[in-house]
Amino acid sequence: MGSERITLLSSREIDKMRRAGSLAAKLLDHLEPMVKPGVSTLEINDEAEKWTQAHGAVSAPLGYGPKNNPFPKSLCTSVNEVVCHGIPNAKQILQSGDIINIDVTPILDGYHGDTSRTFFVGTPSPTAKKLVEVTKECLHRGIAAVKPGNRIGDIGAAIQEYAEANGFSVVRDFVGHGVSHIFHTAPQIPHYGRAGKGKKLKPGMVFTIEPMINEGTWEAVILEDGWTAITKDGKLSAQFEHTIAVTKDGVQILTLPD
Ligand code: MF3
Ligand code: CO
Ligand code: CO
Repeated sequence: MGSERITLLSSREIDKMRRAGSLAAKLLDHLEPMVKPGVSTLEINDEAEKWTQAHGAVSAPLGYGPKNNPFPKSLCTSVNEVVCHGIPNAKQILQSGDIINIDVTPILDGYHGDTSRTFFVGTPSPTAKKLVEVTKECLHRGIAAVKPGNRIGDIGAAIQEYAEANGFSVVRDFVGHGVSHIFHTAPQIPHYGRAGKGKKLKPGMVFTIEPMINEGTWEAVILEDGWTAITKDGKLSAQFEHTIAVTKDGVQILTLPD
């Protein structure tokens, strides 16, 4: 860990990442109106798979992971206490008051666009609303810490400071990651840490920032399916994710609709 080399992408490759990222953002825009009480997470999955194929892309999550337990669906749907990697299921029907993270990764022309947002189903509780708003702000504070010469630890420190100041905790077991023609590669981007620590950021680095912020303990456990991560205390978890590129003088978000 940390020993792999970090690939710097050319501006041509970053253009391709932006095209894949824009498609990913448009896919979330397309799915958002489906997030309503009574809809199953499998219905969201199936619409995403259809839309992705119709746009000439491939769903990276489908079949991803270990050969003996590949991820079985086209995207991750993580409801309430699910931290990440929730598996869409016909029996999981959304109810008013739920929060759901939808995490999509279409591959377009060989490049991955990895982005997620947390949505409210119907009307959120005050706690759910605050958690989701704080998590979104954590992502943006993390992104704001990205510029050449800053360090990877600056990103996590900015996120952790804001999450904890609001009484929430930062998941440790899952991190942001380099992404390109490979889904998960170096560097790892923890969403906690110390400013001034870690590798220096350089123009051409492309990675995700995807803080998972919990209402209670930061600890997570993995269910028997080998994928679904839930909070150890059963309290809520929220997440937002963008894929970003380090530029000459700052940062560019690659997973915006246009
Ligand atoms: N999109 C997730 C991420 O942000 C990874 C999902 S892998 C899967 O890194 F196999 F669970 F789909
Ligand atoms: Co993702
Ligand atoms: Co990711």
